[in-house]
Amino acid sequence: MRHLIDVTDLTIEELDFLMETAIDIDEHSEKYAHKMDGKILAALFFEPSTRTRLSFEAAFIKLGGNVIGFDNSVASSTAKGESLTDTIKTVSTYADIIAMRHFLEGAAFAGALNSNCPVINAGDGGHCHPTQTLADILTIKRETGRLNNLTIGICGDLKYGRAVHSLINALARYKNNKFILISPPELKLCDAYVKQVFDENGINYEFCRSIEESVNNLDILYMTRIQRERFDDLSMYERLKNSFELNCDMIKNAKPTMRILHPLPRVTEINTNVDNDPRAAYFKQVKNGMLMRMALMLFLFKQRDINNDFDIADTSKKCINPKCVVNAERSVKNYQKDINGKEACAYCEKEFN
Ligand code: NCD
Repeated sequence: MRHLIDVTDLTIEELDFLMETAIDIDEHSEKYAHKMDGKILAALFFEPSTRTRLSFEAAFIKLGGNVIGFDNSVASSTAKGESLTDTIKTVSTYADIIAMRHFLEGAAFAGALNSNCPVINAGDGGHCHPTQTLADILTIKRETGRLNNLTIGICGDLKYGRAVHSLINALARYKNNKFILISPPELKLCDAYVKQVFDENGINYEFCRSIEESVNNLDILYMTRIQRERFDDLSMYERLKNSFELNCDMIKNAKPTMRILHPLPRVTEINTNVDNDPRAAYFKQVKNGMLMRMALMLFLFKQRDINNDFDIADTSKKCINPKCVVNAERSVKNYQKDINGKEACAYCEKEFN
C-alpha cells in the first residue's frame, strides 16, 4: 500500500505524472466524475484548517466519492483519551483512504503504520505538508513553464513552516534551482536541514534578511505566515509577527515573469493591494491544490497493491523533540531510520544525539 507522508515518497516521474493528470482533470473533468463512486474518504483534522480540508473533501466529491471525518479533535474520541493509533485502526476499517492533519510531528507516519488504507499527510505539526507542495509545484509549472533553472525566494517562517520544508524537499530535486532564504535569524531554516538538503547535495542557497535585497532577481517569491501556534514563547511571536509585509512598491522592479505564491491563510505578510498584480498567483494555487489532490487520490488507489515497506528499525533510543508524536502518544513505538548515514527518529526525522 502506498501512503504520502512526505513529498520525497514520490519520485520526480510520479510528480510529473500527477501534474499531467491534474491538468487533464482540469480540462476533461467529466472523465473523472465517477472514478470514486462508492468509496469513502476520511478527513481527520486534529488541527484547524479551511483550505486543505475543504480541498480534500471537494476533490473526493468531484471524483464521485463520499466523505466522513471531523475538523477538530475536541469533537472526536481523542477528547476521551483515545490514542492516535486506535483512532486510525478504527477509521481505516470504515474508509478507503485517509487524509489527516495533526499538530504533532510524525503523526501521519504513525497513522500510516497503523492503517488498513492509504494515509495522506495533510500537515503534521511544523514538519511536512506534501499536498501543499503538490499545489505549489503545479502552480509554478503552469505559471513559468518549468520547475528547474529557477531562483526561488522563500520568505517568512522557515523554521516552523511545514509547507516550506516540503516545498524545498521537492524543488531541490529539480536541476539548477537556487534558493534565497528570507527570514529573521530566529526563524531561519534549521541547520541540520540546511546541511541535509542543500550542503550535502551541492545546491545553491543564500540567507537574506529582507525582501528588497533579492526580489529583483527572483522567479518565484514564496511568502509564508509566521506560525503563531508553533511558538513556545508568544512574546517572541509578537516581536516577529510583522517581520514582512509585501506591497506593490517592493515589487516595482521585480521581473514581470516573477510569480508570488503563498500557501494561505495570510495574515499581514502580503498587502491586499498586491492581489491585483498579474504576478500574484496565490489564489490559482488554491485551485491547483484541489486538482492535485484529485490526481493524488486516484494515483494512490491504483497503487494499493504495491508493497511499500518502510525502511525503519526498532530502537531503544529516545527522540528528543518534545513536539514529536513518539513523545506525546503512548501507543507509538520507537523507530529509527537512516538519514544521510545518520540515525534519526523515523517520525519527525530529527537526528538522535
Ligand atoms: C499552511 C499550513 O497549514 O501549513 N496552510 C495550508 O495548508 N494551506 C500554511 C499556514 O498555515 O500558514
